[in-house]
Amino acid sequence: MTADLVIVGSGFFGLTIAEQAATELGLKVVVIDRRHHIGGNAYSEKEEQTGIEIHRYGAHLFHTSNERVWEYVNRFTTFTDYVHKVYGVHKGEVYSLPINLATINQFFRANLTPGQAKELIQEQAGELAGTDPQNLNDKGIQLIGRPLYEAFIKHYTGKQWQTDPKDLPAGIISRLPVRYNYDNRYFNDKYEGLPTNGYTAWIEKMAEHPNIEVRLNTDFFDESHEYSKNKVVGNIPVVYTGPVDRYFDYAEGDLSWRTIDFEEEVLEVGDFQGTSVVNYNDADVPYTRVIEPRHFHPERDYQTEKTVIMREFSRFAEKGDEPYYPVNTSADRERLLKYRDLAAAEKDVLFGGRLGTYKYLDMHMAIGSALSMFDNKIRPHFESGVKLE
Ligand code: FAD
Ligand code: NA
Repeated sequence: MTADLVIVGSGFFGLTIAEQAATELGLKVVVIDRRHHIGGNAYSEKEEQTGIEIHRYGAHLFHTSNERVWEYVNRFTTFTDYVHKVYGVHKGEVYSLPINLATINQFFRANLTPGQAKELIQEQAGELAGTDPQNLNDKGIQLIGRPLYEAFIKHYTGKQWQTDPKDLPAGIISRLPVRYNYDNRYFNDKYEGLPTNGYTAWIEKMAEHPNIEVRLNTDFFDESHEYSKNKVVGNIPVVYTGPVDRYFDYAEGDLSWRTIDFEEEVLEVGDFQGTSVVNYNDADVPYTRVIEPRHFHPERDYQTEKTVIMREFSRFAEKGDEPYYPVNTSADRERLLKYRDLAAAEKDVLFGGRLGTYKYLDMHMAIGSALSMFDNKIRPHFESGVKLE
C-alpha cells in the first residue's frame, strides 16, 4: 500500500494519531516501529511460567481527569476498578505512602490529630525557614522537616538519581505532598483503573482499522525498507515519535535520560509482598522498589503456587539503553531549544510524544496531546490543505 501518512513509533502517541487518521479521515496509515512489538513502553505480555501479565517497561497505571481522553480510551478497552496504593520500607518497618497521617503517626509513635500533625511538621520544616535552598537536600528539609525527609525522600531520591541529594539541584522538586488525613490513594485523578484484558489487547484494538498497517522491526533510519527517513520525508507526511536528537543525528549534542534496569524473578510462593508496589526508602537496599504484578489484577484467576516480582534499579542512560525519564539539565534545555527550531523547520514532519518532545508524559497526556495534534494539524492539512508544520 502507498501510505498517505507515515508514523514512526507505535506507542500511545503514534497509535492515537494513526487511529484518528484512519477512522476520521479514511487515510491509509503506515506505522513503523523498530521494536518487535507494538505499544511502545506500555506494552505488556504474559510471564511464561506464571501467566501473570508483566508490564515489560515498568509498571503502568492508567489515570486521568481529562473527560475527552477517558471517553476516547473507553472505545478500545474497559477498565478494572484497581486503585493504586504504595507502601515503603524504612528501617525494617512498612509505612503507608505518600506521606499521610498514618505514616506520621507510625513514624513518631503518636496519635496526632490532623491539626497537631501539621503543627509538628511545620515546626520541623522551620529548621531552614527563610533560607534559599541551594540543593535538593535543603529543599526537602525546608518542605517537610528533616526527620520525614531523611526517612522517606533522601535515600530514595539518591537511588533514583544515583547522586547524593546534596549534589542535585533544588529545582527537581517544587513540593513534597503530605496528607494530613488517612487517604493513601496514590493518584488524585477522577478516573483510574487498569485495562481489563491488559495493555496489549487495548493497544492492538487501536491498530485494528484495515487502513492501518503496522510494520515491526523497522527502524526509520535503516535505509533497507521503503519507509525510511530518506525515502519518505518530503514525499509523505510524517509523524515522528522517536528521539528528537536522533532524528537530527545528534547535531546539537545528546539529550540525557535516566533508565531503569529490571531484575525479574519467579518465586515459588503465591504472594510475595501482599501488594503491587513496595518502595525501599533506605540506602542499604540497592533497588528503589519491588513490583509484584499479580496484584494489579486481583480479579484474575492467576495460579497461586508461583508469583513474579521485578526489582527496579535506576541509573543514567547510555547510548543503546532505553531512555525513560528526561534528566533535563540546563545543558539539555539549551539543546532542546535548538532541536525545537530544527523540528519546526523540518517540512511535513511533526514531532510528538515522549521522545519526540523530550518530556515525561503519562499515558493520558500522550493520548491527549496526540488528539490535539490530530485536530490542530493533521485534520486541517488533509481536509483543507493547510501546510504541516
Ligand atoms: P513510547 O511509548 O516510548 O513509544 C515510542 C515508540 O517509538 C517506541 O515503540 C519506539 O520503539 C519507537 N521508535 C523510536 N525510535 C524509532 C525509530 N528510529 N524507528 C522506528 N520506531 C522508533 N504513564 C502512565 O500514565 N502511568 C504510568 O504508571 C506510567 N509508568 C511509566 C513507567 C516508565 C518506566 C516509563 C518509561 C513510562 C511510564 N509511563 C506511564 C509513560 C508512558 O509509557 C508514556 O506515556 C507513553 O510511553 C508515551 O507514549 P509515546 O507514544 O509518546 O512513547
Ligand atoms: Na516540522
